[in-house]
Amino acid sequence: MCGIVGAIAQRNIVPVLIEGLRRLEYRGYDSCGVAVLAGGEPHRARSVARVADLDAQVREIRLEGVTGIAHTRWATHGAPVTDNAHPIFSRDALAIVHNGIIENYEPLREMLRGSGYTFVSQTDTEVIVHLIHSVYRGDLFAAVREAVTQLHGAYAIAVLHKDQPDTVVGARQGSPLVAGLGEGENFLASDALALAGSTEHFIFLEEGDVCELTLGGVRIVDRSGAFVTREIRHVAVYGGAVELGPYRHFMQKEIFEQPRAITDTISQIDRFDASLFGADAGRVFADIESLLVLACGTSYYSALTAKYWLESVAKIPTQVEIASEYRYRESVPDSKALVVVISQSGETADTLAALKHAQSLGHVHTLAVCNVATSAIVRQTALSFLTHAGTEIGVASTKAFTTQLVGLFTLAVTLGKLRGRMSAAQEADYIRQLRHLPAALNSVLVLEPQIIAWAEEFSRKEHALFLGRGLHYPIALEGALKLKEISYIHAEAYPAGELKHGPLALVTEAMPVVTVAPNDTLLEKLKSNIQEVRARGGQLYVFADADAHIVNDEGLHVIRMPEHYGALSPILHVVPLQLLAYHTACARGTDVDKPRNLAKSVTVE
Ligand code: G6P
Repeated sequence: MCGIVGAIAQRNIVPVLIEGLRRLEYRGYDSCGVAVLAGGEPHRARSVARVADLDAQVREIRLEGVTGIAHTRWATHGAPVTDNAHPIFSRDALAIVHNGIIENYEPLREMLRGSGYTFVSQTDTEVIVHLIHSVYRGDLFAAVREAVTQLHGAYAIAVLHKDQPDTVVGARQGSPLVAGLGEGENFLASDALALAGSTEHFIFLEEGDVCELTLGGVRIVDRSGAFVTREIRHVAVYGGAVELGPYRHFMQKEIFEQPRAITDTISQIDRFDASLFGADAGRVFADIESLLVLACGTSYYSALTAKYWLESVAKIPTQVEIASEYRYRESVPDSKALVVVISQSGETADTLAALKHAQSLGHVHTLAVCNVATSAIVRQTALSFLTHAGTEIGVASTKAFTTQLVGLFTLAVTLGKLRGRMSAAQEADYIRQLRHLPAALNSVLVLEPQIIAWAEEFSRKEHALFLGRGLHYPIALEGALKLKEISYIHAEAYPAGELKHGPLALVTEAMPVVTVAPNDTLLEKLKSNIQEVRARGGQLYVFADADAHIVNDEGLHVIRMPEHYGALSPILHVVPLQLLAYHTACARGTDVDKPRNLAKSVTVE
């Protein structure tokens, strides 16, 4: 979603700002812009195309300056047109970039109109910049501190003023913002990744903080108005993550990175011990009687998969809920429940709000499964398990999903062990299965050429049905989500046993039916479901375990998975579905890494 970069330096800062925007492109955006102070005035360039277009513009107009702010915008208030692109100005004196949503923008706009301000955009952001302008008395830091007290909603902002060419001011409430500390230059960004290559020293601003960046350093005031010192953290941001290497898209690169991502994630696990989840986890795990798992999107499907493991391996009652539903419904809190939030980014607004809602209801035990150690969600939970997927750029999540599953499986086995549900031999076998995963994944990735052949056929379809059963029903859901988000083919997933309660009516030759067919206890039942589809002229595309004895036939296309994987089977079975979606999207020529209307990190509601 929206991204912010800001900088003050003794060199032309525009290339750093543009590079920062490039690094934030993966979050999803529909316009972008940059403003610098030059010759005592703010100057800007904005584009409703890509950052590359903005870069071409700034080169052409020779936009240069030592103080600047930049933005990628994902439209909420106001269409993605140039007038609504940030930076937004107030009376050619102040410039602002903003992430988030201001809920009381209407009364503020009326008040500011009454004071003579003219609004030229449809954004909620414009009220902030005029508000700051209206209270500015020669001190930008003071003006921002005063103005933000009147804002309701979520924001991260970066602001500059023509009369203070040596200052950039930032503030955050509900949206992330970090200050990056360089040598004689300082930065602001919504994501540390934006500053890879510029600094490795960061201050993660806290809720309500306002900060002032100058060449000499960073001053921070907290929500009570007191000057505070925040910890400076050393974070080696891996700049290489944004390099594509030999791959056509980041999604493809990230699919193929899964053996490495899982190797890194399991390297922390040599036995199933509560300490994997935090120093206090032993005490917390001994106190809990159930789990409540909250997440959005693909992370929600990893939660659904985990429910099967948690109930079968750990025998612990588990409830899974979409975060945006949970946060607004009346629910009955349970002080003996462990609230688990799953998020790749750790910044998804609904997941963070659901966590805070659970805490406000009295839930005391919280755990994050997350890919970003410094994220808001990890900072808000007592316990955490960090996946080591590395930065995920493609909007459609792949390696984050499979590493989340590793973390959740580890949680299930650890809880099972603590609850006396596991023999030493079983534990050793689970460790062995985890260690075998990277090799097993490599042999699944080898199936790519066969999947490309199927993708050619899929690219000519407009609908697809995905079937799975038990532990693999969430994998079918994830396969359908992948296909719809990047190829724009309408796809739905059903538990195969539900076929005759509705979806069978849709089955025709034109409707491919993708089936996940592991050799588990439900295989015979799944084979009956396959026959139900065949009998109605449906075309089946089955990913079958090596020993499942499902073979190519009329209307039945089979890709044989190399092995049968036991409890970890969902982690392997999702990979061909990722590849199928990816190659179908390529064949349809869509923008795979940045599908229309979607964002990587949904930091607004
Ligand atoms: C967006 C992304 C998805 C992701 C979901 C949840 O919709 O496009 O790929 O699964 O957000 O994000 P999170 O970072 O919380 O896992």
